[in-house]
Amino acid sequence: MRILVLGSGAREHAIILALAAESAGHELFAAPGNAGIGADATLVTTLNPDDPAAVTLFANDERIDLVVIGPEAPLVAGVADALRERGIPVFGPSRAAAQLEGSKAFAKRIMDAAGVPTGRATRAQTRDEVAAALDAYGAPHVVKADGLAAGKGVVVTDDREAALAHADRYLGDGAVLVEEFLSGPEVSLFFVSDGDTVRALSPAQDFKRALDGDAGPNTGGMGAYSPLPWLAERFGGEQAFVELVTREVAEPVIRQLDAEGTPFIGLLYAGLILTDAGVKVIEFNARFGDPETQVVLPRLRTPLSALLMAAASGTLEDQPAPEFSDDVAVTVVLASEGYPESPVTGRALGGLDAAAATDGVHLAHAATRAADGGLVATGGRVLNVVAVADTFGAARDRAYHALSHITLEGAHYRRDIAARVAE
Ligand code: AMP
Ligand code: GLY
Repeated sequence: MRILVLGSGAREHAIILALAAESAGHELFAAPGNAGIGADATLVTTLNPDDPAAVTLFANDERIDLVVIGPEAPLVAGVADALRERGIPVFGPSRAAAQLEGSKAFAKRIMDAAGVPTGRATRAQTRDEVAAALDAYGAPHVVKADGLAAGKGVVVTDDREAALAHADRYLGDGAVLVEEFLSGPEVSLFFVSDGDTVRALSPAQDFKRALDGDAGPNTGGMGAYSPLPWLAERFGGEQAFVELVTREVAEPVIRQLDAEGTPFIGLLYAGLILTDAGVKVIEFNARFGDPETQVVLPRLRTPLSALLMAAASGTLEDQPAPEFSDDVAVTVVLASEGYPESPVTGRALGGLDAAAATDGVHLAHAATRAADGGLVATGGRVLNVVAVADTFGAARDRAYHALSHITLEGAHYRRDIAARVAE
């Protein structure tokens, strides 16, 4: 197949690596991609992934069989709508269905209508409404911007003044949500959907805070691992857990969206908290998670292209459940100095070949550009070291050994990714 992947991060690199690993002779294109992706796909740097007309024209001219949308921006811009209108198979929901991620209020309404378990939430439009909701739920306080805020729209704090100040930042642009605090481990579970049928992938957990011990500010994600062996204790195993969430969360949401005339074709990402009162949804995303994708796809045994194409063409029912290897995967994100507040970019990277030569290790690039015969970092999250092994201890050893080869002035990464499951 000729497959175009939109986006430029490590998630998109992971998707391209998984497609290439099928050894099915796919011709892979990425727009705009990055220097690392350029080693595995043809980069189309002149194509704006957020431009529906331009993407459709390119896909048509280049006889693309399948377009895979990585990030949320093209979804919100209506790229999937434009492709679908032209009859080009696309993995990614319409602008209307992508509101499940883009609008937290929309997501809450769908969950209410579908009877999906989630925390209580109040939509507030004034400072007084925020204050009243904070007091009604009590501490810890959870305040969220209602739109896309690139992972920075949420504050969880015991400090009432800080919660109010966070709300003030977003109230000018619209409403905020004040939520009940949910306590428990978090799980990211991905579902491939053709609008009707869903197929679950293997669960993962990501590390959102910048520093070891879950300290420091929220980030786009500093690492991840899959699978989650500790699910066995509470749910009797991954299979039972996945079936529960499929039944109680994914299927009702997909049915509800379909009934409203906005079928969801693409990747439904359920962000879950396992509370003492059961599994609850904290958020949905309308795309693969980053960095979880980097640990889920290397374990996928089913050809990724078959799953994505079946979703895009409405034939997922004919596909068997995706299969995963028993190996485990760990990814650690290398971040630029100053990330997430004010990352320093433009610095030279070294040691990548030695890192990638580590047994069981590969690199997924997030923000790299070719320059002066080498590579420079162009963003906050620079690359992911991904390690696969038969135990978490071995995978961690491999990942951190590979990282020891990489040089980038001022760079930082967490040392405790998957440390607890390795014990
Ligand atoms: P979100 O952008 O909704 O995924 O929120 C980012 C992070 O904030 C989540 O991964 C949780 O760690 C935390 N969070 C969000 N909502 C809640 C909540 N209602 N209770 C506890 N933690 C939350
Ligand atoms: N890993 C969090 C996200 O992709 O939104």
